[in-house]
Amino acid sequence: MKKYGIPTAAYEVFDDMQKALDYIKDAPIPTVIKADGLALGKGVIIAQTREEAVEAVRSMMEDKVFGESGSHIVIEEFLTGPEVSVLSFTDGKTVVPMVSSMDHKRAGDNDTGLNTGGMGTVAPNPCYTPEIAEVCMREIFLPTINAMNAEGRTFKGCLYFGLMLTPNGPRVIEYNCRFGDPETQVVLPLLESDLLTIMQATANGTLGECEVKFADRHACCVIMASKGYPTKYDKGFAIDIPANVAESVYVAGAAIKDGSLVTSGGRVLGVTAVENTLEAAIDASYEKVKQIHFENAYYRNDIGARALAAGGK
Ligand code: GLY
Repeated sequence: MKKYGIPTAAYEVFDDMQKALDYIKDAPIPTVIKADGLALGKGVIIAQTREEAVEAVRSMMEDKVFGESGSHIVIEEFLTGPEVSVLSFTDGKTVVPMVSSMDHKRAGDNDTGLNTGGMGTVAPNPCYTPEIAEVCMREIFLPTINAMNAEGRTFKGCLYFGLMLTPNGPRVIEYNCRFGDPETQVVLPLLESDLLTIMQATANGTLGECEVKFADRHACCVIMASKGYPTKYDKGFAIDIPANVAESVYVAGAAIKDGSLVTSGGRVLGVTAVENTLEAAIDASYEKVKQIHFENAYYRNDIGARALAAGGK
């Protein structure tokens, strides 16, 4: 991103502690200090003051609290703003963004608790206006595809842009070369065009001639998880899904035992509803969730509330 001027958090990498401490003297605060390696998900410190930043650098580079991961650190700009997931199809020449979506990463209501793989989604994301979409196409999506080509690594497939809409414009938080979960559970139900035809065009380099149309409707997906996820949880409980809601359910963390469906993972299933308004989609997905039963079921009660607060209708 740095090499190709694609907007992301400003960052510098250090393997010399004194240079890191010198950089912190003028770095904008808060700042993010990351150990560049595996640290059991704990190697990121958001320093609210310059003193905290100095302490974080020393703890990583001098005291080695994260082991050798702390020999090499990243000091990164702290970004704020709503997050948006934009999945896209690309054949390496054309980028066709899918309808935008909003993930809910934290385990608990009101965005509390531990980070998860995603506890629910809505699409479209009301924060992602047509004006912002246009900026993203110009400053992020096309430059990314062009950068991959320039590196001799043409990318064809589904490219996931994880974006933050900061007061200074959209920034890339992450790329994934795959569909998102649970974004896909709200994006693909809104796709009106034929997915196989699009995938063939993506592979064949003819995406520019292919129709990719999304319904002008709203989708909400609520994840039903095992109580205790994302840390410790029990499995093996029978799952009861009434026939009238089955076609709205995407099963993930489940297995067949003695001919019956039982829980076998943290995020067990996703329940999607598509309606003409965001509010109706949220209500309809919770209506279906209430009809599905398994012991130790857990779900957030506020999927979509942030989108409604942001003006989604
Ligand atoms: N929901 C986030 C992801 O799929 O990475």
